[in-house]
Amino acid sequence: MCGIVGYVGPRPVTDVLIPGLSRLEYRGYDSAGIAVHGGDTMTVVKRAGRMSELEAAVAGLDVNGGRGGVGHTRWATHGAPNTTNAHPHQDCAASVVVVHNGIIENWAALKSELVARGHSFASDTDTEVVAHMIEEMADLPLAEAVRQVMKRADGALALVVMRVQDPDLIVGARRHSPLVVGRGDGENFIASDIPAFLEHTRDMVVLDDDRVIEVRPESVTITDLDGNPVEVRERKIEWDFEAAEKGGYPTFMLKEIHEQPDAIADTLLGRVDASGQVQLKELELDDRLLRAVDKVFVVACGTSYHAAMMAKYAIERWTRLPVEIDIASEFRYRDPVLDARSLVVGISQSGETIDTLAAIRYARAQGSTVIGVSNVVDSALARESDAVLYTRAGPEIGVAATKTFTTQLVVMQLLGLYLAQVRGSMDPGAIEQLVTEMRTLPEAVKSVLERDDEIAKIAAEFGDVRDFFFLGRSGDFPVAMEGALKLKEIAYVRAEGYAAGEMKHGPIALIEPGVVVVGVATDNHVKSKTLSNMEEMRARGGTIVLVVEEGDGDAKEVADHVIEVPRGSDLLCTVTAVVPLQLLAYHIATAKGLDVDKPRNLAKTVTVE
Ligand code: F6R
Repeated sequence: MCGIVGYVGPRPVTDVLIPGLSRLEYRGYDSAGIAVHGGDTMTVVKRAGRMSELEAAVAGLDVNGGRGGVGHTRWATHGAPNTTNAHPHQDCAASVVVVHNGIIENWAALKSELVARGHSFASDTDTEVVAHMIEEMADLPLAEAVRQVMKRADGALALVVMRVQDPDLIVGARRHSPLVVGRGDGENFIASDIPAFLEHTRDMVVLDDDRVIEVRPESVTITDLDGNPVEVRERKIEWDFEAAEKGGYPTFMLKEIHEQPDAIADTLLGRVDASGQVQLKELELDDRLLRAVDKVFVVACGTSYHAAMMAKYAIERWTRLPVEIDIASEFRYRDPVLDARSLVVGISQSGETIDTLAAIRYARAQGSTVIGVSNVVDSALARESDAVLYTRAGPEIGVAATKTFTTQLVVMQLLGLYLAQVRGSMDPGAIEQLVTEMRTLPEAVKSVLERDDEIAKIAAEFGDVRDFFFLGRSGDFPVAMEGALKLKEIAYVRAEGYAAGEMKHGPIALIEPGVVVVGVATDNHVKSKTLSNMEEMRARGGTIVLVVEEGDGDAKEVADHVIEVPRGSDLLCTVTAVVPLQLLAYHIATAKGLDVDKPRNLAKTVTVE
């Protein structure tokens, strides 16, 4: 998830690009760059780090005679966040500049072809293939060359391209990644997001998927991938800057909850193939090593620990390997028994949580192999692990983890299935079935999000409630734990997450009228037991909310409120089942007028023990 801005028109180009990029820093901020078209040359300036670094570098340059330019602020998905990998990227002859948001799934194959034809690559990015492909099509109009690229590139992508022989022209293209055009008077803008040009115009052109757009100072033309003209649809932007940054949502947290279908789709990209296999090429661990593993440990904190809890069920069920899970701050102090045959997985969205880093350092010192799961490319966790799997959720600004959690669940499910595949512990047909179902998760989450109003109505009844329990068994247990944590941290309400079967061993004494008990019962092999436990809570006067699969008649008998999620396999269902709980916490908190994006006493990254 990166920020893109492009401009053609009479203004000093950097005066549009630099503020535009600064407005997009919330989309990514590990490096940034611009290219300015000077008529017969293009000047490219790139810097690792925040926008201020680029701004300082551009300040000393005389590039303001330019006629157009493109800029990019990056959130790395491919290659370390350094100056070389910052966008724009260029071809061998420096005649093309490309900025890109998204992932080109088949970049490695495209790159091999280009290298075989003599191209040399400067960066580790997938994006650079586009510049070299367009270089080879110098005799075609730029829009046609971009159409050809779009036909060959798989994945979700938004591209914006300039070429030295075409001053005053920017060509953009999009597929499943945002790209919008701002229309001005004798000038036009193209960007991944509205805030980039909102100070200049409120007239926007909407771009659909698989469209190519030619932007000149006086005109905007859209075609499909066969070059057929497509009607240009305009819209007036009513949002102010703050609303535009949040994509029209009132808070970053709600925006991020709604981004989950895309985040999950991105996380799956290139990792599940059409034949039903899991592909984790980036893991770069020898299969022999993975076959020799005799025990798995998963360590993490907070929400990430709840992903570890789900991972225990998944990895044990699918690989028959024993799995221990640890809250990272406890791990090294309990003197765990580790050796070279132990596989240790550290999960941390930020990749900087000190407890998780200390845990994996300890494991490596014992000779164990460490896999890091992080949302931040080149984070300390990524650098210090033997291998890394990234969640591709994009930057998460709300302090409470939402889209990084569901993508962690997806990554841990992929890892579990991959281990099962490599170790031959599961029938390939059964793996294929789960992989096929995983591909439907983005749609399934989308359908849960459509129940937002229904969930808001339930939440409205709980404004004065002081005590909540969240209960579940098996895969539903980590979901319940996460539901309780969300409510605690953003609504400041006491909420206990418990294994449903454990209530009768003590906590049931707390159930009385006025206590709300949220049960999660989507895991079919324990569902009837969870429902019996919920009966016990109801008999003591608790108000019951149940998250169940669609069409689950039994639940209605037990519950005051039922929230349905699409049917799915046990464990995969965790991804959909947690979404109503995120929304429930969100609505309870916002009804109290609380700032859900910045809950009190919390930090997004915890770098102290
Ligand atoms: C809860 C939350 C925290 C983090 C925890 C670990 O919404 O965000 O509980 O999950 O601080 O952070 P990471 O995953 O960055 O290691």
